[in-house]
Amino acid sequence: MVRIVGLAFAILLAGDVKEGMAEPADGSFQVQRVSGICPQNRTTRKAPGRYLKKKNPVPPTAENIAEGRRLFNQDAKPTACKLCHGARGNGNGSLARRLEPPPRNFTCADAMEGLPDGQLFWIIQNGSRGTAMPAHKSTLKPEEIWQLILFIRKFLKA
Ligand code: HEC
Repeated sequence: MVRIVGLAFAILLAGDVKEGMAEPADGSFQVQRVSGICPQNRTTRKAPGRYLKKKNPVPPTAENIAEGRRLFNQDAKPTACKLCHGARGNGNGSLARRLEPPPRNFTCADAMEGLPDGQLFWIIQNGSRGTAMPAHKSTLKPEEIWQLILFIRKFLKA
């Protein structure tokens, strides 16, 4: 039993869910994006004012962005961000399928442009209560969160 669950989990982690097949009424197949929705309905709590005023103190050097990428794709605990937010940052990670609300789509200008760095910092540090977005207070140093933010911001321009 444990082995079966482990296997199912491994399959779940294996791939980035990019698109699913939907069968429209006329019987022809059509490729449909499972998530990656934009504009995205956003009901996330607003960070306290002292956070919203924070500026990213970590310079956007190639090294810092690379650190952000490493954390996003594999090293962040408890779960690599990629597994929910997707390798392309569009909210289509392999764990995203049934999440409601869905993971933020970082490629969506409508969802991301108005959000200050301090808002992203606060949610990454404390999580978004009542959603799958976990807190990283005990697993990521502030500097690492700022590096992640430098990396996440790149998805908009990609
Ligand atoms: C288990 C799935 C999951 C993982 C892992 C995860 N997230 Fe999220 N994330 C979510 C969901 C779901 C939301 C949407 C929360 C909401 O609507 O309030 C979200 C929202 C966000 C937001 C948007 C905050 C806002 O104010 O709109 C940011 C930024 C973010 N996540 C960053 C990260 C980073 C960085 C990591 C890795 C360190 C990460 N997430 C890991 C599921 C996840």
